[in-house]
Amino acid sequence: MRKPNIAVLGATGVVGREIAKIIDELNVEYNEIKFLSSAKSAGSKYLFKGKEYIVEEAKSESFDNVNIVLASAGASTSKIFAPEIVKRGGVIVDNSSAFRMDEGVPLVIAGVNDEDLKQHKGIVANPNCSTSQLMLVLKPLHEKWGIKRLIVSTYQAVSGAGLKAINELRADTEARLKGEKFANECFKKPISFNVIPQIDVFTDNGYTKEEMKVVNETKKILHLPQDLPISCTAVRVPVFNGHSEAVDIEFEKSVTPDEVRNVLKTAYGVTVIDDPENYEYPTTRDADGVNPVFAGRIRRNLAFNNGISLWCVADNLRIGAALNTVRICQKLTKMQLF
Ligand SMILES: NC(=O)c1ccc[n+]([C@@H]2O[C@H](COP(=O)([O-])OP(=O)(O)OC[C@H]3O[C@@H](n4cnc5c(N)ncnc54)[C@H](OP(=O)(O)O)[C@@H]3O)[C@@H](O)[C@H]2O)c1
Repeated sequence: MRKPNIAVLGATGVVGREIAKIIDELNVEYNEIKFLSSAKSAGSKYLFKGKEYIVEEAKSESFDNVNIVLASAGASTSKIFAPEIVKRGGVIVDNSSAFRMDEGVPLVIAGVNDEDLKQHKGIVANPNCSTSQLMLVLKPLHEKWGIKRLIVSTYQAVSGAGLKAINELRADTEARLKGEKFANECFKKPISFNVIPQIDVFTDNGYTKEEMKVVNETKKILHLPQDLPISCTAVRVPVFNGHSEAVDIEFEKSVTPDEVRNVLKTAYGVTVIDDPENYEYPTTRDADGVNPVFAGRIRRNLAFNNGISLWCVADNLRIGAALNTVRICQKLTKMQLF
């Protein structure tokens, strides 16, 4: 089997560092690897698998002889470099929102719609973090009972907004505890001791872009009809890492909470923690730093016919970004699609 030459683009960012960590953890097979950033971090040392690398500034020529680029350097950077990567015969697995809804660009969650990878023309998109964890839970349920309607409410950690946002939560919290003033930059409202019902900008229909990502990406990944009703409210909470979601699903067919629990117990990438009487349900801290999407609070939904409500949490930097990126890289290698 051919092993790829890999480049990690945005290697010095929150997601990029996690990608490098997971490449090591999963013992990903590669021929050569390099780490790329903007001019700001270029030249800095990068410790990977006990070896010291020097971070290089990303330029078009950086992608000569690179087979797979794992990119998390923002949408504008991906838009600049993707054509250069494709021109050189490489594949970019992109974490940004630049290409997710483009026709002909597979939007993939490894273990959910791997077959879509076969359609790629040099660009594979990694879904938004809140969509990603949801897909691993919904796919096996949809296969069995058919989703008819879906309502999702998210409780998203600040790490989803990058390193600056993590630092802002820490600094804002410290300032507030000391009774000092703090000027927020990343968020429109103070993030410490607060809950903010806005992630990304508002669109014409009153939903935010983040909310519409969940709606549109879910339909693309699960191959759902465009008119299937999905609604989302996305909320930022003062948690460093780990997204939580309250999910209400109406199914085509009749289903019980026990049946859902049993299907999720054997589902790829999902761990069920669900014994509320003994206070057993997943919280964000359970998910921080680990790979599964945790599901719990599985119960009959009182508002829908054939309805189920559940709670799911995951490490947004892992399944919502880096882990899925690395898993896609492994699939591309296994399927020899580079
Ligand atoms: N955080 C999440 O949970 C999450 C989830 C899914 C997707 N994403 C997406 O992943 C991307 C990165 O997010 P992040 O949270 O890791 O951000 P971050 O911590 O701010 O890191 C950004 C990275 O991109 C590099 N970069 C910026 N401009 C560049 C340029 N012109 N050329 C080459 N490299 C450049 C930076 O290098 P320097 O060190 O030189 O500045 C840094 O390595 C974003 O598109 C984000 O939407 C994030």
